Amino acid sequence: MKKISMIALTLMMGAASVFAQGWGRPPVEDPTGYKDTYKDYFTVGVAVNINNVTNPDQIALIKKNFNSITAENDMKVVSLQPREGEWNWENADKIANFCRENGIPLRGHTLCWHSQFADWMFVDDKGNEVSKEVFYERLRTHIHTVVNRYKDIVYCWDVVNEAMIDGDGRPTRFQREAPSPYRQSRHFQLCGDEFIAKAFEFAHEADPNALLFYNDYNAADPAKRDRIYDMVKKMKDAGVPIHGIGMQGHYNIYDNPKWENFEAAIQKYSELVDNIHITELDMRINHEAGGQLQFSREGAALTDEIKKMQEDRYAEMFEIMRKYKKVIKNVTFWNLGDRDSWLGARNYPLLWDENYEVKNVYYVVRDFKKNKKK
Ligand code: G3I
Repeated sequence: MKKISMIALTLMMGAASVFAQGWGRPPVEDPTGYKDTYKDYFTVGVAVNINNVTNPDQIALIKKNFNSITAENDMKVVSLQPREGEWNWENADKIANFCRENGIPLRGHTLCWHSQFADWMFVDDKGNEVSKEVFYERLRTHIHTVVNRYKDIVYCWDVVNEAMIDGDGRPTRFQREAPSPYRQSRHFQLCGDEFIAKAFEFAHEADPNALLFYNDYNAADPAKRDRIYDMVKKMKDAGVPIHGIGMQGHYNIYDNPKWENFEAAIQKYSELVDNIHITELDMRINHEAGGQLQFSREGAALTDEIKKMQEDRYAEMFEIMRKYKKVIKNVTFWNLGDRDSWLGARNYPLLWDENYEVKNVYYVVRDFKKNKKK
């Protein structure tokens, strides 16, 4: 009995000295986030859905790490004005108010995109196609209304999204003429590339202080890069207010993009614009890449080898982006945790897992100074 109480006493004294040294207290959470470790380079953003900005744990992750926010879907044309004059502000307002309350600037996404667009803009009430003048009037009303509503918190807009085609653009056996560099969207078919200029002009009229971006995926692919470059150059030469290029960055852990192509694209775009944003960054573990809506959602087994490949790819990419900090002003992750990803959680493309537990890759990207090879 006596022996037992001696043991208990020793344990209690040990515990007391541990508490005295502070070891027994819960660890103070490290408050350093991306916005801190990247403050001398670029702002770091995240695309959010409504859950992300209403769940307290996710809010804490956002506030700690990010100093730019994009609405993943809630500011798209079809989300805001599905029918003429029928405005649907609820979710977009919630996200904008979250940004206002927390002092986090908002990247506006997106004012004119072939997908998630409002097809009513192209037809009259009998279903006949309208003239381009009518279309422009509707697009102008949309852009003015949206930009004006959020201009106190939105610092830049993805004005036109994905207007250029994919592929190498060379003629084929069946099509001798090189295809048009432009996506054959309804916008293009009605207006030619003038719709691009108009969208930028309308946005600039509504908020002359906002930075205006052309935003596309596969923007590091050499053929598409040249198409984007030629289009933006043509527009800028004609006085269209394009201030930046958004390279979306839906990449994979293998070889898309090749880093030399990524770097060459940054160099080429910076001949034209002072602002490049990496607008939609994720790094999937299957072999697909790009922002097309046709994709498999197939993942792969998340082995240690795959995790390491992803960590290396993210680390290499951020190293290049830091090198180009003069022109790269923002890097935005496309979604918060793997659970939110448009690619499906089995592609593990992000920094937090499907339960919002932090992954090692988070630290690899955040603590680049410590990780730097000597
Ligand atoms: O809101 C409806 C809901 O009412 C319905 O019940 C449900 C059934 O499927 O669909 C919901 O809409 C989905 C929407 O996301 C919101 O979750 C659409 O089907 C789905 O197609 C849509 O996908 C989004 C996609 O853009 C198309 O807008 C992705 O979440 C979003 O991550 C993705 O983001 C795009 C960028 O905006 C532009 N660049 C490429 C990138 C990836 O495609």
